[in-house]
Amino acid sequence: MTMASASGKVILFGEHAVVYGRPAIAVPVAELRAWATVDDAPPGAGCTVVAIDLKRRFSLADAPPDDPLALIVRLTLAGLGLVAEPDWTITLRSDIPIASGLGSGAAVSTAIVRALAQHAGRSLPPDAVSALVYETERLHHGTPSGIDNTVVAYEQPVYFVRGQPPQPCRVGGEFWLAIADTGVASPTKLAVEDVRRAWQADPARYEALFDEMGRIAERARQAIETGRLDALGPLMDENQRLLSAIGVSSPLLERLCAAARQAGAGGAKLSGAGHGGNLIALVTPQTAEKVAAALRAAGAVRVVISQVVR
Ligand code: MEV
Repeated sequence: MTMASASGKVILFGEHAVVYGRPAIAVPVAELRAWATVDDAPPGAGCTVVAIDLKRRFSLADAPPDDPLALIVRLTLAGLGLVAEPDWTITLRSDIPIASGLGSGAAVSTAIVRALAQHAGRSLPPDAVSALVYETERLHHGTPSGIDNTVVAYEQPVYFVRGQPPQPCRVGGEFWLAIADTGVASPTKLAVEDVRRAWQADPARYEALFDEMGRIAERARQAIETGRLDALGPLMDENQRLLSAIGVSSPLLERLCAAARQAGAGGAKLSGAGHGGNLIALVTPQTAEKVAAALRAAGAVRVVISQVVR
């Protein structure tokens, strides 16, 4: 049996604007993971995929071409040069809530690629893993920037500009995030389509808002790399104001951000596609518990404290 895993992620700065070429920063969330195991099956059984959380079991040969799990298995087998379908059972499990901005799709796909490669006695470099996972992100998202597959495949903080090689974002001083789930599922594809329609209706306004988000991501990168963490909170608040202006916040997200700030968070913003999903609040070991309690009291269904390490 072979087992591999992949982490979830949060976008710290620049979601949505990154689809339009502005820079963004994302970090892995090691506390939230997806796992894939590969077992040998009897000869002639072919490939079977068992997605435990989705309560799905299917054979690869029967899956339609646009099934994201089947697609990543097929692409990886082809990438590994396995022409004949191997007799393998691939079992999937994930801690990462679906459609919540935490990169569950990218993490499951990455775990699959890693486990299949390992079972075939191969190891694939992060850029090859990322390129394979990007293909499934296109099914999930429509027009993904590529940031989710990149941060999950490299599993390190990244400064990302669409179409350019990812740059590592050095963490000058470790910091902590409270990651709070609104409990409202929000498929990225829909949020990205909403923003696209609004941008088409008023390109000048949206381009100006994306420019501001890009400038915030640049300033945040400097603050993270030089360890000036007191600058981060206000930049998160500013990014949240802009996300609200492009129409991807919600009354619940606003309420949770306000509750986090009031309980002592340095700043707070939605993370990922918005409308629902998760938000992040900047905390310290001293404020983390109080902020987490305030978020739960204000309606968060789950709060994870995650450390962003050097
Ligand atoms: C989703 O995690 C981030 C978005 O910016 C979409 C993308 O980058 O593809 C909303």
